[in-house]
Amino acid sequence: MGIGPVNFVCVQLAKMKKEVHLYYGARNKSEVTLKKFPANTKLILATDDGSKGKKGFITKILEKAGYPKGTIVLACGPEPMLKETARICLKNQWVCHVSLERHMACGVGACNGCVIDTKCDDGKIKRKRVCKEGPVFNAAEVVWT
Ligand code: FES
Repeated sequence: MGIGPVNFVCVQLAKMKKEVHLYYGARNKSEVTLKKFPANTKLILATDDGSKGKKGFITKILEKAGYPKGTIVLACGPEPMLKETARICLKNQWVCHVSLERHMACGVGACNGCVIDTKCDDGKIKRKRVCKEGPVFNAAEVVWT
C-alpha cells in the first residue's frame, strides 16, 4: 500500500536530480505491485519467500547497506518493519522518517483513537495523534512497543 506514495517521492526527487535507493520488501512476488520507477531510482527488492528479488526481510539488506551518517531514510509499511528500520537508522545515525498507520475513527483529531507515544526533548512522553500530528514522524521520537 505504501509503495504508491514512495514512488511519488522517487518522482519528485528525480525532478531534483537526486539519486534514490528504494528498498522494496514484500511477502511474495504477487505483492510486488509496482514495477516501474523513475530512472533515478536504484531498486533493491526482497521477498520473504524469495519468489522475487533476494530472499528474506528487506531490513536485513538495509542493515548491511553501509550508508554514511546523515543518510535520509523514508519508510512506510508494517509497524514491525518500521520499528526495525528505525533501530537500524538510529544505530547508523541516519535520519529516519516513518509513515505510521492506525485505525482512525474520526481522522480529524477529535477522538484520540489513533494516538502514539512520542519522546520529548526533556525526556517526557507525549501522546500524538497519527491523523493530526502525523502520519509521518521522526523515527527517533516514536516510542516503539
Ligand atoms: Fe480520531 Fe485520530 S482518528 S483523533
